[in-house]
Amino acid sequence: MSHLVAPSILAANFNRLEEDIAMVNASQADWLHVDVMDGVFVPNISFGQPVVKAMAATCQKVVDIHLMITQPERFIEQFAEFSPGYLSFHIEATHHAHRVCQQIKACGIKAGVALNPHTPVTQLYDILEDVDLVVLMSVNPGFGGQKFIYRTLEKITTLKEEIISRNLDTLIEIDGGVGLHNAEKILEAGANVLVAGSSVFKSENPTETIERLKNTGIGKLQF
Ligand code: DX5
Ligand code: ZN
Repeated sequence: MSHLVAPSILAANFNRLEEDIAMVNASQADWLHVDVMDGVFVPNISFGQPVVKAMAATCQKVVDIHLMITQPERFIEQFAEFSPGYLSFHIEATHHAHRVCQQIKACGIKAGVALNPHTPVTQLYDILEDVDLVVLMSVNPGFGGQKFIYRTLEKITTLKEEIISRNLDTLIEIDGGVGLHNAEKILEAGANVLVAGSSVFKSENPTETIERLKNTGIGKLQF
């Protein structure tokens, strides 16, 4: 399978969300990444359910919700209502990651688990079979426009080897500081999904940037 591109709406112009989602709809993007922040788990607040509901209604791509909120178990059903393709929460934000995965799946949604830069991928190993998507944060969550943390590349490789050795089809998504300058390296390390906020929406031609991200590494062997 070729890799997937997920523009992050956090970097869009919130005065014209509908137009920016229409751009994503018409582009080669595979998913739309939607960041929900609570001002507690991360030092920033983005938007909540009413805005996510409106965006999901307009979006024709797979909606990929990334919850950066404490005790995500409180809100799973509410976000599942918007029929995202994937609903991800942070392993650091709950005592019961396995239970939250089950809670998401009980809603008929694929479960994602996000890991902060300081969290080793081994923390996931005992629940890996129950996880559809691993979101490896390549910046500290909370803000767009930060620099990619290169140590993430080793985390991708380690996790990819583990997924392959267990014959799983868990996807690896990389979130933060991803752009045309590093996409190829990230894909070579074994990532499946590229989240791209600023590199898409702050570029001169977002549609073309999405296309270039989509075509990165095409024709090269991926494992
Ligand atoms: C950061 C968010 C990211 C963010 C990425 O907390 O989880 O999804 O939108 O933005 P860029 O691509 O600008 O680093
Ligand atoms: Zn995100």
